[in-house]
Amino acid sequence: MAGQKIDGIEVSNEVKEILKSAVEKLNSEDVIPCLATVLVGDDPASTTYVKNKHNACEKVGIKTKDHKLSADTTQKELDKIIDNLNNDKEVHGILVQLPLPKQLNEFATISRISPIKDVDGLTPQNVGLLSMGKSILRPCTPSGIMEMFYYYKINLQGKNVVMINRSDLIGKPLYHLLLQNNATVTTCHSKTENLHEYCKNADVIITAVGDRTKFKLTSDMIKQDAIVIDVAISRYEGKLVGDTDYDDIIQKASWVTPVPGGVGPMTVAMLLKNTVTAASLSKEIVG
Ligand code: GUN
Repeated sequence: MAGQKIDGIEVSNEVKEILKSAVEKLNSEDVIPCLATVLVGDDPASTTYVKNKHNACEKVGIKTKDHKLSADTTQKELDKIIDNLNNDKEVHGILVQLPLPKQLNEFATISRISPIKDVDGLTPQNVGLLSMGKSILRPCTPSGIMEMFYYYKINLQGKNVVMINRSDLIGKPLYHLLLQNNATVTTCHSKTENLHEYCKNADVIITAVGDRTKFKLTSDMIKQDAIVIDVAISRYEGKLVGDTDYDDIIQKASWVTPVPGGVGPMTVAMLLKNTVTAASLSKEIVG
């Protein structure tokens, strides 16, 4: 029997409905949640992602400020913009779209963002809090994946979870969130030997490679009734694809996220949630 779809559009719509009410409540207290985005250069994928984030904000009543900088922006210029946004009382969340052009230092840039406006959850302070189970603003894709598990009541306790990604944006934060939910977590990556063995033994596989020419997870690589979360999105043979073919994997898995319509919408929904959380925090801080 085929498995079931984990529908990121359905879950994200529910999150957004809840956020609409939270925004109305904040508005009644004279707080208008506001997200500032910083996009350096004109990479088409990044431009589309930022545009989608703005559109999503608008739909739940979050105000946006859009900073589009030329590809040759210097570190000093970028630092100044971040400092201004840190000091701007109207702005509750700051998102610097990654990756940045090569002349810019991503670590220095992210570290400059005020932790209470860090709606990506990527500053050293928020990464540290996450590792200690005390975070408030968590990275959006990992927390979006967790939200899908909660929504479908998928219990991770004692489950053997294999992740194929070790990045600061996905694998590392997700490791902590999975562990906090009592999963047994293995982080695989490009240098892992016997990746197929890990996949075959996994109750849950979270894959985020994003290059079909290097890796594709097929149904013969997973165990019967495994849960498969496909975080990847890339263009391959003219189509938007993940690391799996949904129609193939769902024949053997118990739950699967499609691409598109799986993890992607959740990333955006969690960014909105973090922005509303940051706006609520500002109220508590300002009084
Ligand atoms: N680029 C790809 N994903 C992300 C993300 O979640 N946040 C930021 N800032 N940049 C990204």
